[in-house]
Amino acid sequence: MKNYVKISNIIKKFNKSLYVQGDKSISIRWALLASQAIGKSRAYNLLKSEDVESTLNALKKFGVRIFNKKNYCEIAGNGLNGYNFKKNKIIDAGNSGTLARLILGLLAKSNKSVTIKGDKSLSKRDFSRVIKPLNLFGVKIKSKKNRLPLVLQGTNYLRPIYFVEKKGSAQVKSCIMLASLNTPGITKIKCIKSRDHTERLFKHLKIPIKITNISKTKQLIEIEGKKQFNGFNYNIPGDISSAAFFIVLTALSKNSKIVVKNVNINKSRTGIIEILKKMNVNIKIKNKKIVNNEPVGDIYVKSSNSLKSINCNSELNSRAIDEFPIIFLLCAKAKGTSFFKNIEELRHKESDRLKICSKFLRNIGVKIVEKHDSLKIHGDPDLKLKKKYNIKNFMKDHRIFMMSCIAALTLGGKFRINDKDSIKTSFPNFILNLKKLGANIK
Ligand code: S3P
Repeated sequence: MKNYVKISNIIKKFNKSLYVQGDKSISIRWALLASQAIGKSRAYNLLKSEDVESTLNALKKFGVRIFNKKNYCEIAGNGLNGYNFKKNKIIDAGNSGTLARLILGLLAKSNKSVTIKGDKSLSKRDFSRVIKPLNLFGVKIKSKKNRLPLVLQGTNYLRPIYFVEKKGSAQVKSCIMLASLNTPGITKIKCIKSRDHTERLFKHLKIPIKITNISKTKQLIEIEGKKQFNGFNYNIPGDISSAAFFIVLTALSKNSKIVVKNVNINKSRTGIIEILKKMNVNIKIKNKKIVNNEPVGDIYVKSSNSLKSINCNSELNSRAIDEFPIIFLLCAKAKGTSFFKNIEELRHKESDRLKICSKFLRNIGVKIVEKHDSLKIHGDPDLKLKKKYNIKNFMKDHRIFMMSCIAALTLGGKFRINDKDSIKTSFPNFILNLKKLGANIK
């Protein structure tokens, strides 16, 4: 099968409702926590993607029994630190930073060594951010320049730590939180606020956790370790990071409407909605409810013909972290100059997203100023493309692939976009969903 798509037509007007697949962050967290619960847990609408598949495969290597049924996935856990495996296991985290970083936390007490490896993109990413706190717990990790592959040797004598997290990284915070489960005493994390799915799951499971707001952007999390919890059933909501592509597609299309149903609208993830509202996009959330301690709702969006630029408040950075590529595209069509500051973290994702997005925007004729940790985009409401574009060399980054498809479907030009397989990591149904809206994709 060919690994590229060709798009030569702008999408025709549409008025549709759709569901996106389950949230990736929550799917991985559910599986990891279910593997430490006592007894069986079931997840409905678990994301079927390579990152989640890598998670389930890793857990199977640790002796966890997993049953994939038509409507749900079942995991039989053996309680805290209940993994059963021979030493020198090799775990392949594939493309998933979330899996690689979070599972290190769960292995903190393992008395057998484990090697974690990943694909080309993941092997370029920095693991010092989790190695430092894990070392403080007493865990030993060997690596070359803090990159994968790395070898973990856990300890029976975990000490609770006090760690100051300064990047606003949910992966770092969650790695520490998972290590705290097997640690006697109280683990404390002072952190910049970021997605809080792990905290919500801990509360849902009645794991002793206390969260104190220190300021608008910082909080203190305290967890008492060594508390067993039972298996639990869970409904995974739709992923707002997947919905984001359809939201922007609709905003940039003429006379169109969409409803994306049953999406996770946790405040730590809805930065994109606030940014788009400020940019004059007609977007509303209806049917709000709480399911398994996570807020969900239906997102209604209409075409926008008067997009405004944005000077983005950096408080929104971690709340919209994965949506910047598609937000940058929207800014290219907005009136005025948009500015994003303190976004250096984008350089540490599946690709250097600040560099790759800048290259993409320049390539389609958008004026930008890229600095080490900021981006200025000179928008043009009349931006229309006519040339041929061959999009490649983006480290197979799924979100760059999807952003490129939305550009092709809304700005014109003749696009060949390579590495279609990248969507298998987070949103395998992406192309199928676009076709349901009438997109002409070859
Ligand atoms: C994630 C956290 C974010 C995000 C990633 C998923 C998570 O990464 O970019 O896609 O599930 O915790 P950081 O923690 O590195 O910001």
